[in-house]
Amino acid sequence: MKNKQVLLAKRPRGRVEEADFRIVETETPAVQDGQLLTRVHYLSLDPYMRGRMDESKSYAPSHPLGAVMIGGTVAEVVESKNPKFKPGDFVVGMAGWQQCQVSDGAGLRKIDVSVIPPPAYLGCVGMPGVTAWYGLTQIGKPKEGETVVVSAAAGAVGSVVGQLAKIRGCRAVGVAGSEAKCELVVKELGFDACVNYRQEPLLSALQKACPKGIDVYFDNVGGDVLAAVLRLINRFARIPLCGLISQYNATELPPGPNFSPILVNRALIRGFIVSDHGDRFADFHRDCAQWLREGRIRYREDVVVGLENAPEAFIGLLRGRNVGKLVVKVGDDPTVKSC
Ligand SMILES: NC(=O)c1ccc[n+]([C@@H]2O[C@H](COP(=O)([O-])OP(=O)(O)OC[C@H]3O[C@@H](n4cnc5c(N)ncnc54)[C@H](OP(=O)(O)O)[C@@H]3O)[C@@H](O)[C@H]2O)c1
Repeated sequence: MKNKQVLLAKRPRGRVEEADFRIVETETPAVQDGQLLTRVHYLSLDPYMRGRMDESKSYAPSHPLGAVMIGGTVAEVVESKNPKFKPGDFVVGMAGWQQCQVSDGAGLRKIDVSVIPPPAYLGCVGMPGVTAWYGLTQIGKPKEGETVVVSAAAGAVGSVVGQLAKIRGCRAVGVAGSEAKCELVVKELGFDACVNYRQEPLLSALQKACPKGIDVYFDNVGGDVLAAVLRLINRFARIPLCGLISQYNATELPPGPNFSPILVNRALIRGFIVSDHGDRFADFHRDCAQWLREGRIRYREDVVVGLENAPEAFIGLLRGRNVGKLVVKVGDDPTVKSC
């Protein structure tokens, strides 16, 4: 059986290009005792993949050249010689940018797709959702009546952060890169306000949106947004430092922010990596499933069809083209006979 795969062909210099990837077709190996074959339905595209494409080590090792690109997936079991899985089971795992995978089942988690649709396990109820929840509740610790600001607010993580802030009785203010995104954030997701950082003067727009200052800033982007927010933080503000996407394509380190407001306001800034907190995922999955059923959390997906379109879609993610969680619908090409 044929298996289309997207490999890391070379390491990007600055911006990612399609030539950094190579698409190949390989033969799927036969399933041995203890193994299972899964067909990928959805692939998650996430900003962390940019860091893995570089040579330098970050919190995780650099991705090997010539290997299938790393990525979270929702897949269906099509054949199993592993007693823990049977054909028809849906699993979340890390099959990466490919159509099929033969594995021993390690790291696969069965999911129920009868109530929650499969791609949501890569977004709102998946890694980005738990990231939002962990950073906001465990580091941001918002109290009722406080003001919470989040950047990349229309994205996978940011959209959940603002809605969780509302559930906690806070004022939720988003920062996003277009009018359409700001409209989504306020009208569909229920934030109190949203600042379009590409159009409005950031500092004065944030001042207007946050008349009582900023108590929690959930930072997804770093750079200019972080610098503006720091000038408006309240005493004892908390800043969960989740991501720095404005720098991911940079070839040189940008000038550092001015940290004097952190000192003057006795604020806390704390970085975190969601994979360190696997022990809390079950709590989040339970609560999030409940909030979804009650309609207290909504989400938007940006679905790209066809694995061969993953490189272009990933490049778009780093330029802000996605609205909501970006996923690739992998198994939709009837001309391709794969697993
Ligand atoms: N710490 C962790 O464990 C962890 C886990 C998951 C994600 N993260 C981080 O969380 C952040 C959001 O991830 P996500 O999966 O939710 O992605 P996302 O928000 O769905 O998509 C990325 C968004 O980032 C914004 N962006 C892109 N380039 C930018 C730039 N140069 N300056 C400012 N904004 C830019 C764009 O939105 P706009 O159009 O609004 O700019 C884009 O749509 C990323 O920094 C990611 O690395 C961290």
